Amino acid sequence: MAKLWGGRFSKDTNKLVEDFHSSISFDQKLYHWDIVGSKAHVRMLGDVGVITKEEAAQIIAGLDEILAEIENGQVVFDPAAEDIHMNIEVLLTEKIGAVGKKMHTGRSRNDQVAVDVRMYLRDEVEHTKSLLLELLTAVVDIAEEHKETVIPGYTHLQRAQPVSFAHHLLAYGEMLKRDITRLEDCQQRMDVLPLGSGALAGTTFPLDREQVAAELGFSQVCLNSMDGVSDRDFILEYMSAASISMMHLSRFCEEIILWSSQEFHFIDLDDGYSTGSSIMPQKKNPDVAELMRGKTGRVYGNLMGLLTTMKGLPLAYNKDMQEDKEGLFDTVDTWQKCLLVFTPMLRTMTVRKDNMLQAAKGGFTNATDLADYLVRKGVPFRDAHAIVGKMVAECLDRQISLDEVSLEEYQQHHPAIEEDIYEAISVYTCMAMRNTIGGPSVAQTTATIAADREFLKARLIEA
Ligand code: ARG
Repeated sequence: MAKLWGGRFSKDTNKLVEDFHSSISFDQKLYHWDIVGSKAHVRMLGDVGVITKEEAAQIIAGLDEILAEIENGQVVFDPAAEDIHMNIEVLLTEKIGAVGKKMHTGRSRNDQVAVDVRMYLRDEVEHTKSLLLELLTAVVDIAEEHKETVIPGYTHLQRAQPVSFAHHLLAYGEMLKRDITRLEDCQQRMDVLPLGSGALAGTTFPLDREQVAAELGFSQVCLNSMDGVSDRDFILEYMSAASISMMHLSRFCEEIILWSSQEFHFIDLDDGYSTGSSIMPQKKNPDVAELMRGKTGRVYGNLMGLLTTMKGLPLAYNKDMQEDKEGLFDTVDTWQKCLLVFTPMLRTMTVRKDNMLQAAKGGFTNATDLADYLVRKGVPFRDAHAIVGKMVAECLDRQISLDEVSLEEYQQHHPAIEEDIYEAISVYTCMAMRNTIGGPSVAQTTATIAADREFLKARLIEA
């Protein structure tokens, strides 16, 4: 077929090249936004008199028909027409004749693709955000149920100090809130119209960029045409936000995998969110969580890929930038799919409170509290640490816990220890005493949950 840009060429494009540089197989995803953008552009061309209002109306009607045809599955895109932008222009001219050839006046595919991807991503940011909000809601709901469920807190994956399961979950709540506000930051910077930048140097026609921005819902127009067509920061920001959020999900998945092992057995995943083995009849595997941990790799890969693509590009547009799309689409789909399955997986898991408590009571998670008790009796912390360390060593030899040491034995280690020691080192006291802001006490957890609910309310009402 004749190329839209074929005027200065005396030979057809080599077949291999045609296949090599065509992007229609993936950028057809942008058809809706391409048409929305073209309609706004053409309406404005008619309003400022670059084309007549009748011509604008004809083009807009043609574009609407094409949109309906694509949606009804009646359109087969042509790889020879390279990309979604030229495919639609070809379809338009076939449909409405010569007037279709006026659509691209004062525009380049460079500013066209830039606005299409922004509009696509603007929508997907909203969708991703709503999925994150649903996950945060689930985390907070489950936390609400487990303010007094004791679980060992770990450092180095060694039992450290008791916390509540709510407190552990709410740590992810904080991460999710940051993931959400990171997207909100990204939304602000994305809210700039590149259309009107032309190929790189604007255009000689008196375009009303503000009108196009208003119709397409952008609150600003870009202030430099070369930047307008070259900027892919907004994609990189989304991919960075996705990478950080997937890192959070992946850590959460790692814990779910550990917790559902027989060694921990803190939770049971619902059968609907687990899979079996083709050979070992007894197996129930946390595949969903593992796969999500695995998919984190491709999201990082997409970010690294585009950063690398962009790093050596001179201004302004270069064809390298066509490589931005597949990685972006994959990141959007992967992140959203992970969030979609994570929330119900979490909501349907069974929490084994008894096993959590058992584990919290073992491993001397109250040793710090015994030392703190001595400090309150006037013993300097470093000395208290040494005394308790020695007691732990003895208990390890005797295979008992600190709660099982008799009062006489306690007093041999330090005469200031009294009968109230047992209450002071119960895991419940350990938790309740940690009442500094952000600590695991029920009072603090309740406050965090209230703050999280406010965070959610402000955003869910808006949505
Ligand atoms: N398919 C191209 C892309 O995705 C559209 C812009 C093409 N511009 C050009 N001058 N070849 O980047």
